[in-house]
Formats: sequence, C-alpha cells, structure tokens
Amino acid sequence: MTALLNSVAARALKLSSVVNFRWNQCGGSAAHRVRSLSTVMSPPSKAIVYEQHGSPDSVTRVVDLPPVEVRDNDVCVKMIAAPINPSDINRIEGVYPVRPPVPAVGGYEGVGEVYAVGSRVNGLSPGDWVIPSPPSSGTWQTYVVKEESVWHKIDKTCPMEYAATITVNPLTALRMLEDFVVLNSGDSVVQNGATSIVGQCVIQLAKLRGISTINLIRDRAGSDEAKESLKALGADEVFSESQLNVKNVKSLLGNLPEPSLGFNCVGGSAASLVLKFLRDGGTMVTYGGMSKKPITVSTTSFIFKDLALRGFWLQNWLSMSKVKECREMIDYLLGLARDGKLTYETELVPFEEFPVALEKALGKLGRQPKQVIRF
Ligand SMILES: NC(=O)c1ccc[n+]([C@@H]2O[C@H](COP(=O)([O-])OP(=O)(O)OC[C@H]3O[C@@H](n4cnc5c(N)ncnc54)[C@H](OP(=O)(O)O)[C@@H]3O)[C@@H](O)[C@H]2O)c1
Repeated sequence: MTALLNSVAARALKLSSVVNFRWNQCGGSAAHRVRSLSTVMSPPSKAIVYEQHGSPDSVTRVVDLPPVEVRDNDVCVKMIAAPINPSDINRIEGVYPVRPPVPAVGGYEGVGEVYAVGSRVNGLSPGDWVIPSPPSSGTWQTYVVKEESVWHKIDKTCPMEYAATITVNPLTALRMLEDFVVLNSGDSVVQNGATSIVGQCVIQLAKLRGISTINLIRDRAGSDEAKESLKALGADEVFSESQLNVKNVKSLLGNLPEPSLGFNCVGGSAASLVLKFLRDGGTMVTYGGMSKKPITVSTTSFIFKDLALRGFWLQNWLSMSKVKECREMIDYLLGLARDGKLTYETELVPFEEFPVALEKALGKLGRQPKQVIRF
C-alpha cells in the first residue's frame, strides 16, 4: 500500500499544476483548491463528460481531467467497468428528475479497484474491488476519488461485468418483488419489457422463490429467440404483444394462478396488457417508460377490479437511509451471479469505443446486450 501511495504522491509531485480540480466528484460540485507539495493526488483521469443536456451522441465527449487530491478520508479508485443504463441516457438528455449539474461525468454505477487511500481510511486497501453503494454519479472515468463511505468492498470472485451492473437493475427487481405485495411460493407475477435486465432479473429472482412469471415482450425481429432465452432463464410463459390480441388474455394462463402483482417497464398499450392479466385487487408497479407513452386505465379497472397503480424509483428507496440494507442485498445478488443463479447478457466495450457502445445503448443498431464500458 505504501508503495502505491508513494507512487501516487511521486506522480503528484511531478505535476506542476497548483490547482486541484474536482469534476463532479462529490454530489456534482466542482471546487478549486491550492494543493501543497505533500498532497496525495490521483492520476489524471479520462472521462466521458457532457457539458450541456441533449442527445447523448452529440453532447458527450472524452475529456482529460487533471489529478484530484486524495484527502484523508478519500479513496482513489481505478475504474474497471461501468454500464450504460437507460437512466444514464435520461440524465444526459436532461429529462431525469435528479441530475448532476453540468458539466458532469456520465455514469451512475460500476466497479473499480482501489488505487490509493487517504491517511484516515481503515476499511479499504489498494487492490480491493469496490462499487459505489448507493450508486452515485460520475463512474464513466478512469479514476474516481470519493470518500471511503461511498465505496462498498465486494468479493473479487464475482465476474466483473456483474459487479459493474448489479445495483441499478438487479436491485430494482429484488425490491419490487419485496415491497408491494406479499408473494408466496406458488403465486405468479406478470411483467412487460421482460427482455430488459430488470425483467430478466425478475424472472430469475421470482423462480428462486417458487413464483411463476408471465412475461410480455414487444414484437420485433428476433422476438422468437428472445422468448426462448427468457424461458431458458426460467420464464413460465412468454407472450409477444400480438399474441395477446384475444378477448380474454387470462385464458392463456393455463394452470398458472392469476397474478396479484404486475411490473410495467414500458407504458402505453403494453401497460394495459399487464393490467388485463391482474386478478381483482391486483397491483401494477410502474418502474420504466421505455415506449415514452402514457398509461391509460379504463374506469372499469378501478370500479370493478379495484386495481392499484403504484410506482417504484430505486433512487427514492436508496435515499431512505438504506445503505446497510442496500449493501446486504448487493452481496446477496453478487453471490447469485457468482454461482450462476443470476445471469444476463452484457457486452464489454473498450473505453475507446464508447461512441459505438452509446449507439447500441440508444437502440440505433437494433437489439443489443447491455453495454458495459471496460476501462
Ligand atoms: N425506477 C427505477 O428505479 C428503475 C431502476 C432500474 C431501471 N429502470 C428502468 O427500467 C427500464 C429497463 O431498464 P434496463 O436497464 O433493464 O433495460 P435494458 O436492459 O437496457 O433493456 C431495455 C428494454 O426496453 C425495451 N424497449 C426499448 N425500447 C422500447 C420501446 N420503444 N418500446 C417498448 N420497449 C422498448 C427493450 O425491449 P427489446 O428487447 O424488445 O428491445 C428492453 O426490454 C428503463 O426504463 C430504466 O430506466 C428503472
């Protein structure tokens, strides 16, 4: 550790700049400070930055950021991998309810290796693998410096692409199965957007509890293959939307019980389909709006079926002093991933090829696996 610290300090000493620039490191604020010659500094960082809100492929660019001071309670992390999630895109577009002030570094989750620690850091050492937990902005850069309390040490035996992606989507799936309706083994849930990472996690986490899943996907090229892969994950039923153009969708349930809980990732007519499957008194939880279309609910759904509409936002849940609980669940999910009980497809893309990964994440090149930047 001393050697690493020394190497950071030595590099810092060679740098003649007297200004320490923290770019969106803590809650998005920038601060300029004069550093003393003995200050430990991070290496310079390469970051994917947006200086204004707009279409991500036109407002993002790679920027060289100068070294940052590693203060007593700080940990400097060399990022290993970080995904491009739909919410990252929404933050750049400026349509997400909470977004860092611009200029900002993109990304909200990821995994990295501790590179150097401040003098008062006791719980982490160089070489440890860590994730920001709860997740926080600015993971799309080669070196991130944040306080020790931000970082959660994880088991290095977990595949890196899962460590990078475990929080935003798998945790959402886990929470939504817990927080709305008491589910017992033998029950079922229905969801649209089942091919999303959240949807795939719902299928697998439900299966582990003996809960069946009814899964709806949109009609598109490759939807037959998508059905097969969801079934391989444990999906009990998978329907494309066009198959549900029948008078009574529940006639398609076979032996499965009517679901009391539904998840809506898409909105529009895909949300109406989820509602059609729900039993009387059932609850639909909306967590995504991939179609960008509003939800329309018939009056009869309320009067005669007493359906309930709820919403889930992970960021809101995380803000409720849930750090310990969050980290326990992350460890549980990482354990499942390590043991092959939680799987989903990712594509590791070299940092230099970020523009291609972004095009794919924006859906411009057809259906693609979750894009994960490899630093
Ligand atoms: N509320 C929360 O706290 C929370 C947390 C995590 C994620 N989310 C949201 O959950 C959603 C899924 O995230 P993810 O990362 O799991 O997704 P993902 O793996 O990137 O997959 C995207 C999903 O959206 C579908 N999709 C894309 N464009 C669509 C369109 N125009 N109409 C209908 N479906 C479309 C895709 O279907 P195909 O397979 O057919 O392309 C796929 O199922 C996003 O909206 C995300 O923001 C919310």
